[in-house]
Amino acid sequence: MNIRPDLKWIFNQTKDPDLTLCRQLFSPEIARNARRFHRQIPEFKMSPLLALPNLAQMFGVGGIWVKDESVRLQLNSFKVLGGSYAVYRYLKSLLNANEELTYAELTSAEIRQKLGKITFATATDGNHGRGIAWAAQKLGHDCIVYVHAETSKPRIDAIRSYGATVKIIAGNYDDAVRQIVVDAKNNGWAVISDTSWDGYTEIPIWIMQGYTTMMAEIQEQFAGQGITRPTHVFVQAGVGALAASVIGYYHALFSADAPRCIVVEPETADCLYQSVAIGDGNPHSIEGDLDTIMAGLACGEPSPVAWPILKQTACCFVTCPDYVAAKGMRIYATPLAGDPFVVSGESGAVTLGALVSILRENGLSELRDYLRINQDSQILFINTEGNTDPAHFRQIIWEGSNPVPREHWTDSAG
Ligand SMILES: Cc1ncc(COP(=O)(O)O)c(C=O)c1O
Repeated sequence: MNIRPDLKWIFNQTKDPDLTLCRQLFSPEIARNARRFHRQIPEFKMSPLLALPNLAQMFGVGGIWVKDESVRLQLNSFKVLGGSYAVYRYLKSLLNANEELTYAELTSAEIRQKLGKITFATATDGNHGRGIAWAAQKLGHDCIVYVHAETSKPRIDAIRSYGATVKIIAGNYDDAVRQIVVDAKNNGWAVISDTSWDGYTEIPIWIMQGYTTMMAEIQEQFAGQGITRPTHVFVQAGVGALAASVIGYYHALFSADAPRCIVVEPETADCLYQSVAIGDGNPHSIEGDLDTIMAGLACGEPSPVAWPILKQTACCFVTCPDYVAAKGMRIYATPLAGDPFVVSGESGAVTLGALVSILRENGLSELRDYLRINQDSQILFINTEGNTDPAHFRQIIWEGSNPVPREHWTDSAG
């Protein structure tokens, strides 16, 4: 019987992508600046780039590599890279500082006195808010974070643990963003948002630039393995800021030789996929409660600064049901003998789950052929989060929630 796949995909038809924006926003020099800032943070370490050679062999590909952001600054996700860099750039602009400010200067009594007490504000589905709360606390400022009604208690507690005030807003992530904009204006708070909107682009661009530290590290780690660049990058998307940063960085660095980049979204929060499908060149919002276990990706409005990069340079857009993310989590958590164990949360693991479906499921040969994944492919994933919601993590890994429907099993026994 031919079962229809649950994954949806759409290819990017752009023939000659315009890379101007990628080069402007994600030049090697910008990435170096971001990395220089991050490296000064006490306890800052490069996150590991893990090889899964036995999984790669099982799937007949050259290499599977996982940049493991679950250990970044002990904050359980990559998000702090963007938030901390944006806070730094914001303070630098307040001080009219042309020179690079050091981390030590930023935390000095003299600079704090000059700046006075600032209240940083943001809306989040968890990880970004935690990063901003952490940065505000480190730098001695206040922080207020808006979360939507479905945000889990462990995610809220994690934000509060860095001294931030958390307010729960009715509706979804996009409603929390809209509310913080209004309240910040009335209260004089400094909004550090990872998504952009009309007239608010500078800070979201700094956030995307902050993420490039991850790619600069990856390239250094690949060089140590004798690999110039990955051939394929699977990157998960909420508003698309991470994906634009990853894909923009690689296109700035390698132009036409950039890796094939695949953007992966939840099927219930697929604003980028839908924007490409509408096909008028503009970003489009989707409505609804965006219900998915991939909390970090539950966004209905593409970030306008990410969209022009993604529509030019992503090679295709894929959407997945929740069970694909759960499958990815289980594969990471039960490695083949000799491969490392990776703690990967719902939003972190969906890309690996998607690859396995693409390689193994009937009905996906069009996508397989288009991606040209073969024994020479070096495939990169970013494990963007660890077990940010530990009880839910255990439900999936221990109790088997969100199982793969039997008709979509890809490994036949025997
Ligand atoms: C764990 C995780 N992965 C990926 C993303 C996606 O990032 P973006 O919203 O920039 O697309 C997020 C966003 O919050 C996240 O928390």
